[in-house]
Amino acid sequence: MKEESIIRFADRMNQLPPYLFGMINKMKMEKRWRGDDVIDLGMGNPIDPAPETVTEKLCEVVRDPKSHRYPVATGLRNLRREIAKAYERDYGVTLDGDREVLCTIGSKEGLSHLCLALVGPGDTVLVPAPAFPIHIYAAVIAGGQVIRIPMASPEELLRRVDDICRSLVPKPKLLMLNFPHNPTAELATLDVFREAVSLAKKHRFMIVHDFAYSKITFDGYRAPSFLEVPGARDVGVEFGSFSKSYNMAGWRLGYCVGNEEIIRGLAQIKGYYDYGIFSAIQIAGIVALRDCEEDVRRQAAIYQQRRDVLCSGLERLGWDVTPPKAGMFVWVRMPEALRPMGSMKFALELMERGNVAVAPGIGFGEEGEGYLRLALVENEHRIRQALRQMRRSIQEMCDEGLAPPMKMAAAR
Ligand SMILES: Cc1ncc(COP(=O)(O)O)c(C=O)c1O
Repeated sequence: MKEESIIRFADRMNQLPPYLFGMINKMKMEKRWRGDDVIDLGMGNPIDPAPETVTEKLCEVVRDPKSHRYPVATGLRNLRREIAKAYERDYGVTLDGDREVLCTIGSKEGLSHLCLALVGPGDTVLVPAPAFPIHIYAAVIAGGQVIRIPMASPEELLRRVDDICRSLVPKPKLLMLNFPHNPTAELATLDVFREAVSLAKKHRFMIVHDFAYSKITFDGYRAPSFLEVPGARDVGVEFGSFSKSYNMAGWRLGYCVGNEEIIRGLAQIKGYYDYGIFSAIQIAGIVALRDCEEDVRRQAAIYQQRRDVLCSGLERLGWDVTPPKAGMFVWVRMPEALRPMGSMKFALELMERGNVAVAPGIGFGEEGEGYLRLALVENEHRIRQALRQMRRSIQEMCDEGLAPPMKMAAAR
């Protein structure tokens, strides 16, 4: 009889399903090791560099041994103040940099640790789905119960939140929001946030708003901050990130702003877990906020152009696509003929045959099945190339009987 292994994980590990993107990533890496040129529209990992002035500042500060010491865990005071100034400038929201702002090791870390501070066994968290996985699993890991609410429109989503709160005992403790939304690219208006705050007060739940794509907006659209709504600060916090706006994804710098008590709780948890962010990165972050508005605008314009190339290419393939107004992704329903195959199988076939990586909708939960998420993180030339390779691969799949014949316009 086989002896039972000494290695036994905690029960909470059983609640974490296999990471579906892991399979795609593994296949991508194996192909690349074999020398294949995989065009990666899978992960939202920016390819463009951080602003030059920010990198220069990092290099300068790194030479100062003072920056090599443990940093201030809650974030340098000057960075917290700069974040507050940016909120005043961009949203007309006045924040106390000492009490209402906290720096985090990217927003994903902050959000995860915040769930440990707010959520525990017996608590229910409402999360729109499909979802960026940590929006669900931060609460699951913390021991909470998650109710997934189909995203539909933000207005419909809030109607369902209201319905659930009326019928559920005990009532949900937290609502997780994320606009511009990953993966669906849904947007919130200030009215949506106003309604969310009003529901939070009525049903006494807290709100965490993930604002990672605050500045990646197109066609003149401006994404509102949750904190612009009067009373938002009474019920919740907002997370921001340097990863997308400033192409600093690998630097790991983000922040949490809003309700003072929640910020204090997050600081307490983080005080046990970590020592904060390398000071040189924090100082470079101050330069980003202070001097790089033009860089951010330029970067958003680059994403917009890539979006246009990708969306018109998908239309030529006969796909029904709605160009997003914000974010780094095109969220597109698979054509009817391809849907029976499932998004995972299609993504794997596309990778195998066409050397194009895309994120299957099922990776964001079953509500995402039938969809694909394509990230705007390759240049226009490579996006065109990806579209040609997609066309060829789909043609092959149809020829081999994996899908019925499909009408596609000639590739450009
Ligand atoms: C909605 C959303 N929130 C948070 C993150 C992670 O941001 P950060 O790099 O600040 O941890 C991402 C990254 O893809 C994201 O899509």
